[in-house]
Amino acid sequence: MALQLGDIAPDFTADTTEGKISFHEWIGDGWCILFSHPKDFTPVCTTELGYMAKLKPEFDKRNVKVLAVSVDPVSDHHVWAKDIKDTQGVLPNYPLVGDEDRKVASLYGMIHPNALDSLTVRTVFVIGPDKKIKLTLTYPASTGRNFDEVLRVIDSLQLTAKHSVATPVNWKHGDEVIIVPSLNDEAAKAKFPNGWRTEKPYLRYVPQPK
Ligand code: BEZ
Repeated sequence: MALQLGDIAPDFTADTTEGKISFHEWIGDGWCILFSHPKDFTPVCTTELGYMAKLKPEFDKRNVKVLAVSVDPVSDHHVWAKDIKDTQGVLPNYPLVGDEDRKVASLYGMIHPNALDSLTVRTVFVIGPDKKIKLTLTYPASTGRNFDEVLRVIDSLQLTAKHSVATPVNWKHGDEVIIVPSLNDEAAKAKFPNGWRTEKPYLRYVPQPK
């Protein structure tokens, strides 16, 4: 069965462009985004990996480690990195797994043979400090992902983890947030002493906590 939200992210050891890693140990007590791309030396992937390198400081600020996977060898990743620098202006500043034996791809169901033969499709897994899967996304090979959206989801997940709030449709950083339904008014008073704006008893808005 495919991995689902709340499942423990499978642990593995793998060779990467930054040396061998033991996944759970490498994540430590922070967050992680694990994402696959179909193939080195392909156009959409080149743009994605460059953009992710530019966004990396934002993930660092949020204590999120970044790890890319494809079934190409680490030696290819190193050569391709120069093309990413030439075309996108940045070298990947996060490790890329060389998953030639498809170990990671199999554990995470990253190969969808009816869509893309034996290559990994574009998957994203966000993993929390408890090593549980918080987000899964799967995109086709022909569509580059919106990594700004992944960052937005991480902001939402981290707010929920720290403050018992959820985020409404199209929420962006700084907008009002919603008190989670599991917190009754009594408990909410303790957490939000300045009160909240009620639209329905189950729809209670507060300013985004700092
Ligand atoms: C790409 O990155 O451009 C790509 C990779 C595999 C299949 C199609 C497109």
